Amino acid sequence: MNPAIAKQIIEDKLNGMHDSIIGNKYNVNLKFIEKVITEHTGVNISNPSLKKTGSKNLSPKNFELEKSTVWSFKSRGNWATHNGNYRGNWSPYIPRNIILRYSNEGDVVLDYFCGAGTTAIECKLLNRNFKGFDINRSAIELTKKNLEFGCSALFKPCITADVGDARYLNIESDSIDLICAHPPYSNIINYTTDSPGDLSGLEVNSFLEEMDKVAKESFRVIKKDKYCVILIGDMRKNKNVVPLGFLVAEKFISNGFVIEEMIIKRQHNCKTTGFWYKNSIKYNFLLLAHEYLLVFKKQGKRNNKKPALDKDMPSGYSVKAIKKLINKDICLEAKTVWVFSQQNWLGDAVSNLVMRYSGNSYNIINGSNLKPVKNKKHNLIILSDQNYLKEDMDSLLQALDHDGILAVFCEDKRLKNGLIYSPAMETEKSLRGHKNLKIKEIIVVAHNGGRNKDLPTNDFLEINHKYILIYKKT
Ligand SMILES: C[S@@+](CC[C@H](N)C(=O)[O-])C[C@H]1O[C@@H](n2cnc3c(N)ncnc32)[C@H](O)[C@@H]1O
Repeated sequence: MNPAIAKQIIEDKLNGMHDSIIGNKYNVNLKFIEKVITEHTGVNISNPSLKKTGSKNLSPKNFELEKSTVWSFKSRGNWATHNGNYRGNWSPYIPRNIILRYSNEGDVVLDYFCGAGTTAIECKLLNRNFKGFDINRSAIELTKKNLEFGCSALFKPCITADVGDARYLNIESDSIDLICAHPPYSNIINYTTDSPGDLSGLEVNSFLEEMDKVAKESFRVIKKDKYCVILIGDMRKNKNVVPLGFLVAEKFISNGFVIEEMIIKRQHNCKTTGFWYKNSIKYNFLLLAHEYLLVFKKQGKRNNKKPALDKDMPSGYSVKAIKKLINKDICLEAKTVWVFSQQNWLGDAVSNLVMRYSGNSYNIINGSNLKPVKNKKHNLIILSDQNYLKEDMDSLLQALDHDGILAVFCEDKRLKNGLIYSPAMETEKSLRGHKNLKIKEIIVVAHNGGRNKDLPTNDFLEINHKYILIYKKT
């Protein structure tokens, strides 16, 4: 790195110049600017001149616990000392919801990817004891600074934040009541420039190997029947999606956890107008607009039985009926989250698939008519439910053109024991590495107006989303 340019960039940042202007001025990208700032300040922050933050409010206005599986916060939240300066930090609404739902006052909450301390601040406000670790000493210093605010709770929780590595925790086994953590998403954002244990410097495969160690440690330190909640998002590589969310979930499951909720956290910071909208159509990709909030449980009694694949047709998926619903005049979706009404979602979703991925040559198939029309090639096949058998896949693929798209609808199910069974994860795993299929998109279809205010907050979340997995035949 040219030290003179780095110095100039820091000066421009301190003077409040916008990243895009700095980028143009020195012909550098955002990652380069982030690297300069991280080297200079020790932390990856968007505004190095920000001195004091915070508002007088110590809680969000009109806060309500989330009740369904789709979480969407229009503003990130700026009560107490919360602010968005630490790159990629999570909205305080997320740990607040998790802490209130899955722990009690006086419990011990652990965040081993503590960052600038969002979870720590929420624990202080909500009377939970807190143990925080981060590989980066400067992030821990920032956490401590962000914890400097008065709050008049009767109970003074014990809040600690130290340098530490999420893979090797200095914590007793079976001692933590809740883990609430937000890892880097492989190397999308780099949090340090030279910390050896920093997982944000790792490519996907190495990142997953290290997350396996994090999952193992999590299982060791958490008490039985308690929860470990992780936020993770997908990535994009060579126009295809890398299903990091499902891959990380597998690591926690293979280390002993079960899944009680798979929550979709919508992201509102991606642009879908003008330039981005046009590019989404021109290059045929969707802008990543969701992350997964995975609620794992360490069950007292373990049950390793896998639920059988449900061969019953979900209602409302009749192929004839779907074909009638197709509307070729719709405005195409450009993000990975499609929000449609409960009544029209199927027609809207299929219309989008047909208009984005096929000319007129499509076929819709479901569990009861798995054999596609013989001797006819399509450039889009929609499996309108997840009830296919892997063995049928080869004959299905014969009916798909080269470069054609296979779209698979999947719906999470709540099992009788309260856990989630996710055919989307199951399908992605079973087709991973298929010689003729590459996963291109993971689309979430969510219902608007889905917040059912009458639901009790203590129950499981209402499943309010579906997935469409998009594969390209190669
Ligand atoms: C997405 S950020 C967490 C942001 C945090 N939720 C917040 O709101 O400020 C991920 C954090 O993981 C830290 N990290 C990376 N590798 C780590 C490791 N092996 N152990 C502990 N922390 C690590 C990074 O320094 C970064 O602060």
